[in-house]
Amino acid sequence: METKIFSKNNLKEAAELIKKGQLVAFPTETVYGLGADALNKEAVLKVFLAKGRPADNPLIVHVKGAFDVEEIAYVNQEFYLLAKHFWPGPLTMVLPKKAVVPEVTSGGLDTVAIRCPQNDIALELISLAGTPIAAPSANRSGRPSPTEANHVLQDMQGIIAGIVDGGHTGIGLESTVLDLSAQTPEILRPGGVTLEMLKEFLPSVRQAVIKPGEKVKSPGLKYRHYAPKALLYLVAGEPEAQLREILKQIETKNSAQVGVMATSEFFDLYPVVHKVNLGSRQNLSEIAANLYGSLRYFDSTEVKVIFAETIFGEGIAVAINDRLQRASGGQIIFAGN
Ligand code: TXA
Ligand code: MG
Repeated sequence: METKIFSKNNLKEAAELIKKGQLVAFPTETVYGLGADALNKEAVLKVFLAKGRPADNPLIVHVKGAFDVEEIAYVNQEFYLLAKHFWPGPLTMVLPKKAVVPEVTSGGLDTVAIRCPQNDIALELISLAGTPIAAPSANRSGRPSPTEANHVLQDMQGIIAGIVDGGHTGIGLESTVLDLSAQTPEILRPGGVTLEMLKEFLPSVRQAVIKPGEKVKSPGLKYRHYAPKALLYLVAGEPEAQLREILKQIETKNSAQVGVMATSEFFDLYPVVHKVNLGSRQNLSEIAANLYGSLRYFDSTEVKVIFAETIFGEGIAVAINDRLQRASGGQIIFAGN
């Protein structure tokens, strides 16, 4: 199959493909999504095949506004309150689903995850397609999510009908997933809308913790994600101690095969060929935006092991650390002082 590249000026053609049950990747404010008509089960099945995604991992359904949600889910007061403040934006809400949503879309669950993206191309595409669009991140399962059309091509060329190129996505990390179907609202995946921001409107909200042996509420959380081909180690501790630890690691290895994910504060100090500048510790949005592109960069090099500096903090730092932890499979080196 030839994968057509669309610009924002020919969304009509892209929307026609969605209507016909084909797959079209498109930009959102977080990462690129792999879109299909959410109410067409054959189309949604193609998404799972294209990604190599386990069937029990449900998709997020994208809508053009809060009023479209009543067609596909049972809404509550919290939903309208949060939609009013955070939509369009990087907040996905999980609600009890209505029967029109096929089981494939919701991974067999009786709930459905819904969000309204803050991206004009995405909103226009949903509008022209005349149907909610189911879209997981447009990467092959397990790979870092795409933040540029080119990343989508790397994973999906020849496999999907089209890609709308909208340049770099702004935020760079996937949306916050909030479960509103439970007694106590829980964040299942941290993202751009943070716990602190949600607490202002929903004081009882908490971060979900997965206890061993307990059923995972967000099936996506049990799979390894975002993994680069090289081994990734996170280096934790005081920033200066992280620097010293990574320098020590580089000394004992063939430096051509060592990659470093560095903050701009220390970037120049690492004597390796393959390193990426994540951005400044003073600007965490920059680090979030660069994270997935950086992980992908190393896949095009001979690097065998990557050391990543880590950051502390609340807000978006929680999402950055969550994605780094999952990309590393939990391999952390604690740098002493
Ligand atoms: O920013 C985003 O959310 C991007 C863009 C394209 O919108 N999409 C995205 O989709 O990250 P995906 O499929 O890569 O991640 C969806 C997450 C998974 O962790 C999945 O398990 C969870 O949402 N999810 C979906 N439906 C759910 C449901 N009914 N209950 C609990 N978790 C659900
Ligand atoms: Mg994903």
